[in-house]
This record gives sequence, C-alpha cells and structure tokens, in this order.
Amino acid sequence: MERIFSFFLSLVLAASCAACGSPTNSDGAPLPENGAGSSAVSGSDQSSGVQNTPEGNTGAETGGRVLVAYFSATGTTRDVAETLAQSLNADLFEILPAQPYTAADLDYNSDCRANAEQQDKIARPAIASGCVVENWASYDVVLLGHPIWWGIPPKIMRTFAESYDWSGKTVAGFCTSGGSAYSNTGLPELTEGAVWLEGKRFSGAVSPDDIAGWAEDLHLHAADAQAADQLQVSFNGHTYTAALADNTSAAAFAALLAENGGSLTIQAHDYGRFEKVGELPASLPQNDEPIDAAAGDLILYQGNNIVLYYSTNSWTFTRLGRLEGDLSALEADLGEGNVEITYSLAG
Ligand SMILES: Cc1cc2nc3c(=O)[nH]c(=O)nc-3n(C[C@H](O)[C@H](O)[C@H](O)COP(=O)(O)O)c2cc1C
Repeated sequence: MERIFSFFLSLVLAASCAACGSPTNSDGAPLPENGAGSSAVSGSDQSSGVQNTPEGNTGAETGGRVLVAYFSATGTTRDVAETLAQSLNADLFEILPAQPYTAADLDYNSDCRANAEQQDKIARPAIASGCVVENWASYDVVLLGHPIWWGIPPKIMRTFAESYDWSGKTVAGFCTSGGSAYSNTGLPELTEGAVWLEGKRFSGAVSPDDIAGWAEDLHLHAADAQAADQLQVSFNGHTYTAALADNTSAAAFAALLAENGGSLTIQAHDYGRFEKVGELPASLPQNDEPIDAAAGDLILYQGNNIVLYYSTNSWTFTRLGRLEGDLSALEADLGEGNVEITYSLAG
C-alpha cells in the first residue's frame, strides 16, 4: 500500500504540473475513507474548533498534564482526538489553518492546494491567528494527531512543530488514513528535546474502545518515561540502582523501557574482560563523545548495544547512566562470561 502511494507520490513530485495519481488503498479503492475532497471542514465549521479545557486535566492520572493537539481537514482525526482526550482526561486543541481547506483544496486527483503543499519541501501553511496553545509549558505529554497526506503528515504540522519549545516533552503521534501506515516524517527534527513514543495509525472505522485502549497503554508509558531518572539493574540475583544520564539517548532508553512494560532483559556477553554488552531491541539516538569508562558506567555503543562496565576502557560512545552505591563487588556479581541483565524503570 505504502509502495503504491510512494509510486504515485514520486510521479507527482516528478511532474508537479501534472494531475496527481489517484491514491488507492490495498483493495484498490480510493484512499480517503470519509470522502476527503468532498466534505472539507468549512470556515464556519472551524470557528468553534479551538478548545482548551485546562480545568479538565489535572495530570493526576498521568503524572503530568496531557495535551491532545490535532489537525483534521474532514473530521476523521478530530473524532479520534476527541475520544483520546476524553479517555485521558486531557486538554484538546485543534490546529486550525489560517486558510481553511475547501473541498477543491483537498481533491488529490487534481492539482489541488493540499498536493502542492505536500510537494513543496519548504511549505509551512499558516495557522489561524490566535490559534495558540495557552500554557504550553505546563504540558508534559503531547499527543499529536493528523491525517496522512501522500504518505506523510500535512505540512501544517511542521508549522505547528516549529511554533513551540519541545524540550522535556514526551510526544506520541497518531494519524488517520485511508490505509497508509503511521508517519511522523519531518516532525522529530522540528521538535528538538522531545522524546517520541511509538506512533499509531487509526482507520476512520476504529472503535472508541480501541482508541481508549491505546490511550490507556500510552498514558502509563508516557508517565513512566517522563518521570524516569533512575533505573534498577539486576543480574545473578543482585540489584543495583543507576542514575540515568541527562541526554536524549537516556530519555529514549527510558521510553523504550516504558514501551516494554517498564523493563527489558538483555542477554549480554563479556567483551575484553572489562564490559558486558548486549543488543537492544531498537536503536536509540546517539550522543557520542570520548569517554574514559569505569566500573559502573552504562554506555550506548553504536546506537543499539547497551554496555555495563565493570572495569575501564576509553572510546567514543554515548553515556546512558551510571550505577550508584558500592561497586566493589560488581565484577564478581556479574560473573564470568554471559549474563542476563534486566534494566527496569525505578521512578
Ligand atoms: C491530499 C490528500 C492526500 C491523502 N493521502 C493519503 C495517503 O497517502 N495515504 C492514505 O492512506 N490516505 C491518504 N489520504 C486520506 C486521508 O489520510 C484520510 O481520509 C484521513 O482519515 C483524513 O483525516 P481528516 O478527516 O482528519 O482530515 C489523503 C487525503 C488527502 C486529502
């Protein structure tokens, strides 16, 4: 499906003046499930779209205040966003374009405005004046929703991303589409300092229960990852506490643990008689620097290997954290050869 769409997209990019190919889903039917292009939100429909309900969201359930911010041209993403906000007792915010999208603007079979924006690498469609998230700094978690247009988020999402300071935010993206997978293309690089959790695609026919189910999982993940600055590291019946480093790699590691129910068990092997190294199930962002590693250091090597040092080594890699307390028995506790190490969020 994605391949079909990419093919059409490349045609559009190659011949920007030509009419667009018809997006189709895996059944060969037109992609939009909700008649995009024929039921665009009108200017008057949009006028009531901005909602901010800070009193509804105390953050008590999630460990932090949650904002559901979304753009929706024809209402499908709005429905999902509303259900999410309700399930999480979160605030809801609609990203409104300065120039509302008409049905003609969304007619992807023509040389329409939406297509032109998606083809334009630097397009930043303006957001309506006054459509600004109040108290942005008070939110710890942002759920960011949008439709998929030609395989990626509409460009107005980049305008939104560029308008705020994302440092310290946990972000989870969600989208609706006619069949294409979730994509946040173009957004992580505009949200520096944010930790992105795994995104989710919903069809227009998704049930409120399924949406609420994702919200439930997510709220635990987001809250856990957000609060984490300590780990428990367990092996051979011994448990150590570790402080996480203050960088995006450690934050992504915490998010990865959160996504896996709060802990990961890694099969590690001995290397060089100074470290135990094992592969992570996902790659993390690297913040490599020359480090003189010592016993107790937790290191990320090449993005997808986690290393626990019991002796010294100097190399260029990324600090993830450091074991605390008395480390005099660390080498003996780890034992020789292979060892199963469990990393858990400790709050
Ligand atoms: C310009 C345009 C491009 C689209 N491109 C895709 C696509 O690449 N893949 C897909 O599955 N659906 C695509 N769709 C369908 C929308 O993603 C889908 O209808 C979505 O649920 C609309 O959300 P909304 O009602 O919140 O705007 C496109 C729709 C439009 C208007």
